[in-house]
Amino acid sequence: MHEVDIEEIAVDLLLEAIYRRFGYDFRNYARASLQRRIHHFQEVYDIKSVADIIPRILVDEALFLALAGHFSVMVTEMFRDPGFFLAIRQKVLPALKTFAAPRIWHAGCATGEEVYSAAILLQEETLYSRVTIFATDFNDEALAAAKDGIYALDNIQQYTRNYQLAGGKQSFSDYYHADYGRAVIKSSLKKNITFANHNLVADHVFSEMHLIFCRNVLIYFNQDLQNRALALFRDSLAHGGFLCLGSNESLLFSEVEKDFTVVDEKQKIYKKKRL
Ligand SMILES: C[S@@+](CC[C@H](N)C(=O)[O-])C[C@H]1O[C@@H](n2cnc3c(N)ncnc32)[C@H](O)[C@@H]1O
Repeated sequence: MHEVDIEEIAVDLLLEAIYRRFGYDFRNYARASLQRRIHHFQEVYDIKSVADIIPRILVDEALFLALAGHFSVMVTEMFRDPGFFLAIRQKVLPALKTFAAPRIWHAGCATGEEVYSAAILLQEETLYSRVTIFATDFNDEALAAAKDGIYALDNIQQYTRNYQLAGGKQSFSDYYHADYGRAVIKSSLKKNITFANHNLVADHVFSEMHLIFCRNVLIYFNQDLQNRALALFRDSLAHGGFLCLGSNESLLFSEVEKDFTVVDEKQKIYKKKRL
């Protein structure tokens, strides 16, 4: 048999072993990127073949968590795609103001930069005191960092530029204080945010949301899993609620396309129809 086929089988068996032993279901993650991550993991841990990973992780939870860490890409930044945040400010927040107590969900929030960016907009548009924000990820390490809200000062110049391009109304430095070379997010931005573990593959809906961000997460899923997550978001949204995806993701051609209208296709902002 050809070697590539053997590796494909080994990857299948590895994902099945992870699912049965630890309950994490990566079986429908996009294969090419998963395979790249497994290879990187093999290099770091000096494991010769994919099949050799299986017996080791079955008895070593720490090694499994390290592998899962490789699967979860946490690249993020504040005001990522500033044009998107400008569109949120101009097209979504005015509508959000019409709800008495808006509920917002950041699914796949990684280390929190996206959540605090939105929180800044909400404060500047005088909405923050009325909102409840849920920020979830399936990676506990990322969630812990998100809760801390402490970021490298080296990135602040870039974040400040992004903030200004997103229509920032104040000075970006109003939102953090510097502490030993790090930027610590002000606690006034944190008080309405609840961080929680939630797995988009296995867990259930959040109810009556008015705005959901799920940006740069679906790109790691295959079509079936994307449709599962999108149905979860549709069912979690109130009528007239908004769904926001990442710049390389879209609702168009998905199973839930008919349930939404397009607010801004370039910025991937959609609104749930009255069903
Ligand atoms: C590239 S980051 C996106 C961060 C942020 N939303 C952004 O756009 O900058 C992708 C995040 O999705 C999370 N993720 C991947 N699969 C997930 C799943 N099944 N359930 C919940 N979160 C998941 C990862 O842990 C990671 O933090």
